[in-house]
Amino acid sequence: MTGIKSVAVAQPFSQRLVQWQRQHGRHDLPWQSSRAPYGVWLSEIMLQQTQVATVRQYFSRFMERFPSVFALAGASLDEVLALWSGLGYYSRARNLHRCAQVIVDNFGGEFPVTSAQLATLPGIGPSTAAAIAAFCFGERVSIMDANVQRVLGRYLAFDMDLAQQKNVGKLWLLATNLLPPIEDKQGIAAYTQGLMDLGAGICAARNPSCSVCPVNGDCAGYAVGTPTQFPLKTRKLKRSHQSFWMLWLQRSDGAVWFEQRPTPGVWAGLYAFPLFHSESEALGILSPSQIKLTTFGPAFKHVLTHKDMFLHPLELRVQIHQTSQICQGRMGRWVMPSQWLDLGMPAPIRRLLDMQKTSSS
Ligand code: ADE
Repeated sequence: MTGIKSVAVAQPFSQRLVQWQRQHGRHDLPWQSSRAPYGVWLSEIMLQQTQVATVRQYFSRFMERFPSVFALAGASLDEVLALWSGLGYYSRARNLHRCAQVIVDNFGGEFPVTSAQLATLPGIGPSTAAAIAAFCFGERVSIMDANVQRVLGRYLAFDMDLAQQKNVGKLWLLATNLLPPIEDKQGIAAYTQGLMDLGAGICAARNPSCSVCPVNGDCAGYAVGTPTQFPLKTRKLKRSHQSFWMLWLQRSDGAVWFEQRPTPGVWAGLYAFPLFHSESEALGILSPSQIKLTTFGPAFKHVLTHKDMFLHPLELRVQIHQTSQICQGRMGRWVMPSQWLDLGMPAPIRRLLDMQKTSSS
């Protein structure tokens, strides 16, 4: 067929990828300094939905504060959520904490060593289990996160819709055939990292740099001339939107009123200002004599995976003697500025508080 590139390749896919990773891949990420499963697991959970650049700082802070699975299991969930604040997808932090407790309670603090066992633990899906098992225990298994779906989907010109889980399974089977040979015990870690590195750089979602790709010699997507058409994934996220009025209630001594968000729901388990579905609902908790509610700043948008949140900040300054009336019957607590950092709170609320701290310092 015209336009189809055909290049003889001397080495198998896995060998080219491993060689390329060793020469050109990433070797200085903080979680690469040890193959001990605790740090690898922690980094893989953080990296599930967050960029490497952001995870770097969070990973180091977590390792410092909770240097072992025992330390993490012994911490309170509030402490874990506080340190996770700003990373988003807080169910990851809740599962992380639960998983640490299961490992301590049921496995004597030792991580199980196979991907099959790892995948039974809270928050560890099959691809994360494969990454941990490959990196830490040399298991010959393939990861299959979104980047790898793209890399292998293109390499194989895989044209079945990955919106369907059964097709992901088919790609995963093909991926298994591409793994380094059984006798190459050392290869699987570099191979796994190589897939990640290729997906994060050369095989970018848009504008891949195919001309410098180590596996372009027999990449079927490249051969067809339109690698970005692979893999096919039809499902589009159906986004919704929701408005919240949030009440920043501050006492004359600086303390702010926080309420822990219910589970399940938006920001489950985190501390936030009281949230309302309308301004009049917010006004409803205040008796008319007290009230001089002000809006501070315009509403702003906060983007979650499936939802755009429009947040309308309201502010009320109160004297200490007024507080019992206002907060009566509400579950929450007054927190002084020096303790705000100890609370797990959503990023937009933390940003508002930081802005206030900066403007008053
Ligand atoms: N994304 C998921 N896991 C990763 C890792 N170990 N290194 C870099 N990026 C990743």
